[in-house]
Amino acid sequence: MRLKFHLLGFDFPAFSYIRFLPSLTNPVVRLKMKSKTTRGSVDFVLCLTQNTGFVKEPILIDKTTNMNILVLSKGPQLYSTKSIVRAGEKRGHQMIVIDYSECNLIIEEGFPHIFYRGVRVDGIDAIIPRIGASGTFYGTSVIRHFEAMGVYALTSSEALLKSRSKLRSMQVLVNTGILMPKTIFPSPYLSMHRIEETVGLPCVIKLLSGTHGIGVILVNDRITAESILESYVKMKQRFIVQEFISEASGSDIRVLVIGGEVVAAMRRTARQGEFRSNLHRGGNSENIELSKEEQETALAAVKALGLEVAGVDMLQSKRGPLILEVNASPGLEGIETTTGIDVAGKMIDVIEGNRGLF
Ligand SMILES: Nc1ncnc2c1ncn2[C@@H]1O[C@H](COP(=O)(O)OP(=O)(O)O)[C@@H](O)[C@H]1O
Ligand SMILES: [Mg+2]
Repeated sequence: MRLKFHLLGFDFPAFSYIRFLPSLTNPVVRLKMKSKTTRGSVDFVLCLTQNTGFVKEPILIDKTTNMNILVLSKGPQLYSTKSIVRAGEKRGHQMIVIDYSECNLIIEEGFPHIFYRGVRVDGIDAIIPRIGASGTFYGTSVIRHFEAMGVYALTSSEALLKSRSKLRSMQVLVNTGILMPKTIFPSPYLSMHRIEETVGLPCVIKLLSGTHGIGVILVNDRITAESILESYVKMKQRFIVQEFISEASGSDIRVLVIGGEVVAAMRRTARQGEFRSNLHRGGNSENIELSKEEQETALAAVKALGLEVAGVDMLQSKRGPLILEVNASPGLEGIETTTGIDVAGKMIDVIEGNRGLF
């Protein structure tokens, strides 16, 4: 197809292809053209800002410096999603939020592609997955499809899967020298007596896929522990039982590791009468300077799981820092408001830094 475009005072003589991005508000036409001022061909993206079906103002994005970045999120209104979009737009990128559960994944030999709300998804440079615990299967499938299409994923499907289960991630970390609370994944037939022998009492019972402190129970006596475990087995819930680190005194440390660096850290302290320090459970947060050992532990855990973006939860114990879990889709509100650090901006920095590789 050969067409002529007159736009912003320029004549675009020809372009090799037109691609529409899947956003209803920002359809994108991509122009590929030769430029006399730069070497080789320059990829421009022409964004036609559309309002209720009418093309309004065109914007040219120079693809040599700017990108189309897709945020996979079910919550465009969430603080974290908005913060990522703002950080990307500040740097001149086209940020599009799509609900990954509405992506249709098409498999044709040698030609994986995706349709979103009936529109083919194309022209994407990178994706930022923000996949909630309940969306792991669908979310990782969508990421894997983008990976097959050659699109850079800030969180890879593999790393997301590894970190999603509290058991699986601990199995990845167990041989790396990183310390963790003593933990047991019991068979449904193991007696409470043996569990008690292994982790002691009080103990912490955790659902494998829980988040925000939900499904994390502190149990002081054997009778209560037994009845909780029986109920979970009956309900076919998977769980681990963990040694209780009492000296942490209701506090933990959340460390944001991005692009192989510690970018922010805070201490979270549980509210009165609670042992879970999650902010969603009413915990408080404050700035904290990490010790060298804490920094190294967080970095080693994130490296072992292969994550570019991670929120590491650690307990300060008599034995040194203990890793509790590594979150692949950490919330940004608590850490950004507590530390004042532009964490979302650091995420965009990683994508920009990897640019030559995708
Ligand atoms: N073994 C433990 N000993 C002491 N406190 C713990 C232990 N495990 C969890 N906690 C507390 O409970 C909170 C939630 O546990 P965590 O494993 O991070 O689950 P979630 O994924 O729901 O956040 C932690 O931030 C910590 O404050
Ligand atoms: Mg946690």
